[in-house]
Amino acid sequence: MSVQKKQELNKQSFGDDFQWGVATAAFQIEGSCAVDGKGASIWDVFANKKGNIKDGHHARTACDFYLSYQKDIALVKKMGIPNFRFSISWSRILPHGTGKINQKGIDFYNDLIDHCLEQGIEPWPTLYHWDLPQTLEEKGGWTNREIVAWFSEYVSICATHFGDRIKHWMVMNEPMVFTGAGYFMGVHAPGRKGLKNFLPAVHHAILSIAEGGRVLKAAFPDALIGTTFSCTHVTPFSSAKKDVAAADRADILFNRLFIEPLLGLGYPVDDIPVLKKIQRYFYPGDEDKMSFDFDFIGIQNYTREVIRYSLLTPYLHAQIVRADRRDVPTTTMKWEVYPPAIYHMLKKFSAYPQIKEIYVTENGAAFEDAVSEDGTVNDPRRLNYLKDHIVQVLKAKDEGVNVKGYFVWTLTDNFEWAEGYHPRFGLVYVDFNTQQRIIKSSGQWYADFLKG
Ligand code: FCB
Repeated sequence: MSVQKKQELNKQSFGDDFQWGVATAAFQIEGSCAVDGKGASIWDVFANKKGNIKDGHHARTACDFYLSYQKDIALVKKMGIPNFRFSISWSRILPHGTGKINQKGIDFYNDLIDHCLEQGIEPWPTLYHWDLPQTLEEKGGWTNREIVAWFSEYVSICATHFGDRIKHWMVMNEPMVFTGAGYFMGVHAPGRKGLKNFLPAVHHAILSIAEGGRVLKAAFPDALIGTTFSCTHVTPFSSAKKDVAAADRADILFNRLFIEPLLGLGYPVDDIPVLKKIQRYFYPGDEDKMSFDFDFIGIQNYTREVIRYSLLTPYLHAQIVRADRRDVPTTTMKWEVYPPAIYHMLKKFSAYPQIKEIYVTENGAAFEDAVSEDGTVNDPRRLNYLKDHIVQVLKAKDEGVNVKGYFVWTLTDNFEWAEGYHPRFGLVYVDFNTQQRIIKSSGQWYADFLKG
């Protein structure tokens, strides 16, 4: 990226209707895990179990957002960020997943939504960002077909209580990550492993996403309904046939497994024969129920992966060539900094004619930030990461991709799942001992950029 190009980066180039925002998720910020009637979620249980989270970190306080959200919304306002993405914790609304509603949970999200609107900030809720009520996990969680009905009940309650003020909904966050990491690899909650958990979880998540879309649309036909997907640009390690085919298989798993059935294209099983076993979980009529005509699709991109053939990886026969062994710039997550990835993903998703509009609902980076002696947090690598990625979004937009908005991940440093508090992704630094906040230089840059 030339210096010249960076200097030219200007909000006006995106047009007035382009939406700029910042994204968060309930479990990563709220804390107050057992307060005001909230039921346990799979992440509460998983994070409290020794060995699951780096250095025994837990999210019992996190950013204390539940008790002091006004403080963080004030920062959103101060930075001039017009859109705030957050997620609703299912077990705050329904402590046991179904049945009795917890009024205090409803009150919290009503207050949050009202407060955002009073401050001139548009609330963008996501209904499921991975924190399934533990009671439902004990009944099989995402592997139990009944979850489609449980989820619909929850979505319908959210629509009833919050829908009068919500213009954009996102049904679910990154289904590939919570099914892959949580039900196949066992490294995220609920810590289950293997195909026998993964495949039914995938199928039921897809049915639930589509059903959730239908429930919201029926309740509020004018609201715009979306759902979000993780995506990773995949590059073959070499031009050898085996590596190219391995990269294609990884692409199916990382980028196509969820979006294609939801668009009515069915599961992309041809090149990964083991995925055909998902048919076992089909009921008659599922082909139709698996798709929904979303108003928008959220894509969430952080990096790319380089893939080579591997005999040893079961089913996929493909292996990630780790970024920290490739002599490329990386983040705290050991993810390669590779801005063109987001451009390629925008092009890839926009090539599906069924997709109407795309929002980048997450993009950002973790670096080892520190407070300087003068009390500031100078994070030039994050600042450049954001700039360089926004330039790539503009490139895609200029080439005709219907990308309508961009959300930075994330507002404040927070609880980064199995990595605990180590990776700092925020535009705002958090001292987790005192809950003090400091806007980083990247946050200041985003604020200046948004001023136009
Ligand atoms: C995404 C998640 C989000 C956060 C970022 C770093 O996969 O949706 O919660 O953890 O990664």
